[in-house]
Amino acid sequence: MSAIKERKLKHIEICLDYPVEYTTKTTGLESVPWAYNALPEVSFMDIKLETEFLGKTLRAPLLIGAMTGGAERAAKINRNLAIAAQHLGIGMMLGSQRAMLEIESARASFQIRDVAPDILLIGNIGVAQFKKGYGAQEARAAIELVGADAIAFHTNPLQEALQPGGDTDFTDLIPVLEQVVPEVGYPVMLKEVGHGLSGSVANAVKNVGFAALDVAGAGGTSWAKVEDFAHHGRLEHPDLDEIGIPTAQALQECRAALPEMPLMASGGIRTGLEIAKSLKLGASVAAMAKPLLEPALHSPEAVIAHLEKIIFELRVAFFVAGARDVAAICG
Ligand SMILES: Cc1cc2nc3c(=O)[nH]c(=O)nc-3n(C[C@H](O)[C@H](O)[C@H](O)COP(=O)(O)O)c2cc1C
Repeated sequence: MSAIKERKLKHIEICLDYPVEYTTKTTGLESVPWAYNALPEVSFMDIKLETEFLGKTLRAPLLIGAMTGGAERAAKINRNLAIAAQHLGIGMMLGSQRAMLEIESARASFQIRDVAPDILLIGNIGVAQFKKGYGAQEARAAIELVGADAIAFHTNPLQEALQPGGDTDFTDLIPVLEQVVPEVGYPVMLKEVGHGLSGSVANAVKNVGFAALDVAGAGGTSWAKVEDFAHHGRLEHPDLDEIGIPTAQALQECRAALPEMPLMASGGIRTGLEIAKSLKLGASVAAMAKPLLEPALHSPEAVIAHLEKIIFELRVAFFVAGARDVAAICG
C-alpha cells in the first residue's frame, strides 16, 4: 500500500481509538447566549431550515466535514456519508484528494456521485501542494474527476509541523494562491483542519478570490493530537496540541475582517444548538467531521440517525428563539 493510503488509514484508526479532541480548550460556543422566547409565535412544523451555499440549496445549513478517501475502508465511509447527505439534502466535503491525483487506484474511494447525484459536493487539496508544483489544473482535475461543485484548499501548518516529513514551506503561498484560485473556474474555499482561521488570515486572503472560508476552529478534533498519537503513540507535545483559535472566536474575527465573505463554522460542532449559535455569529452553514466517522463505518442509516438528531436540535433552537427561517437568525 502507498505511504499516503497507509497514513490516511492510520489517521482514521487514531480518530476512532484515541482521545484526539482538545482538552484545555472549547469552541467557546457554550458562552454564546441563546435567547429563549416563551411565546415564539412560530409553528414548529413551519420552520424552514433551507439555505443557499456556493450556489446550491441545502435542506439544512449543514455539511458533512472533510474526512477521508484513498483506501477501501475510506470508500465505504465516503459512500455511507454520501448516501446520508443525499437523503437529508445536505452537503458533503471530501477528504484530501492528493492520493487520488497521484495514485490511480485511490480514485474509486472518492466516487460518490452515483449515490449522491444532487448534493453540494466539495473537493479538497492541501495548500502546501501549490508550493510543490500543483496549479489550477490539478485543482480542476480534483473537482471534475469526482463531479464536485467546488473545492476546499486546506491549510494546516501545525499538523504539517508535527508530521514527520510534513510539508512545512509556507513562504509566499498567498501570492501563489492569488494566481491559482481565479484560474480554477469553480468556487474555491479556504479551510483549516481544526486549529482555526484568524481575522488576520482572513484579511491576508481578502484579494485571493476565495468563495467562502471554513474557519475550522479549535474545540473539536486536534490534528496535532492525531499526529502525536500517530508517530509517538502518546501526546508527545501536549502544549502544542492545544494551540488553536476557538471556533466562536475564529468566526467572530473572520466576520469582522471580511463582512461579506460566506463563512462555514466547523471545529467541535456537536449539537444543533451550536449550529444555531454559529449562524448567529455570522456563519452561513456549519460542518462536522469526527462524530460522523464511527456511524459511517456502520451504515448510511447510522449517519442519518446521528444527523437527524442534530437537525431536530437545530429546529428546536429556532423554535424557542421564535425564528421561522435561517434569515431570521442571521439577521
Ligand atoms: C478522520 C478525519 C480525516 C480528516 N481528513 C481531512 C482531510 O483530508 N482534509 C481536510 O481538509 N480536513 C480533514 N479533516 C479535518 C476536518 O475536516 C475538520 O476540519 C476537523 O476534524 C475539525 O472538525 P471536527 O471537530 O468536527 O472533527 C479530517 C478529520 C477527520 C476526523
